[in-house]
Amino acid sequence: MDNRPIGIMDSGVGGLTVAAALRRVRPEESILYIGDSRRNPYGERTPEEITRFAEEMKAFLIGKGVKAILVACNTITFNTPRSFYEGPVPVTGMSTDFSSLPKVKKAAVFATPASIASHSHRRGLEAALPGAAIAEVPCDGLAHAIETGAPEAEIREILQGCIRRYGAEDTGAAVLGCTHYPLVRPLFEELMPETVFCDPAEQTVAETLRRLEADDALAESCGDDVFYFTAAAEEAAALTEKVFGKTMPVRPAEL
Ligand code: DGL
Repeated sequence: MDNRPIGIMDSGVGGLTVAAALRRVRPEESILYIGDSRRNPYGERTPEEITRFAEEMKAFLIGKGVKAILVACNTITFNTPRSFYEGPVPVTGMSTDFSSLPKVKKAAVFATPASIASHSHRRGLEAALPGAAIAEVPCDGLAHAIETGAPEAEIREILQGCIRRYGAEDTGAAVLGCTHYPLVRPLFEELMPETVFCDPAEQTVAETLRRLEADDALAESCGDDVFYFTAAAEEAAALTEKVFGKTMPVRPAEL
């Protein structure tokens, strides 16, 4: 048993969708969250920059005494070297196990340009759906529009442009390959009403909990949660409240 918090990192508010999934599945676990809103978006940066920023967040979380780290960001997960996953606490990245998807003929992945460039989701889809056509859809600007609370009409236009440009209209199933995207899932569903969407958050949480269980490190009771943001903490507080359905402790942080 280990009641220390699980550290969760993202380039901003997107990881809240994974933090909320963790709370739903295992409310005994405390959450220590860091979102790097100041340097968002990561998805339009180089792997070197992404790794440097992610290492700073990892050091921040370890300094706060977390027992494990959940990387609630696809862009970090697929743009950091193997060494990022080593260290004093177990580090788990976003899952690419899409085996629960229906066996469709054509599937899509929506993700940041940096995640798409890694082709990690494509490989996961190919393993889950052998022979299916795969549309990779880099959504330039979408995560940042969500992060900064852009009007819904603007977000719809960006998404619509991406769907058309990369021929994703007629896909039977699609992965929301950026943790910001589930925050606007109704827009995806509106624009692609026939598509079955997959949010990898729950599978990722399950993988993190399996590792903790194997180490006998699951918590017995939840302590204090804290949500740190490197910018726009007030806006993040409002969204955190919306996602969790109650006020959560939000603090500014410097990395
Ligand atoms: N939420 C992040 C992800 O899952 C990335 C957003 C960004 O571009 O910073 O990829």
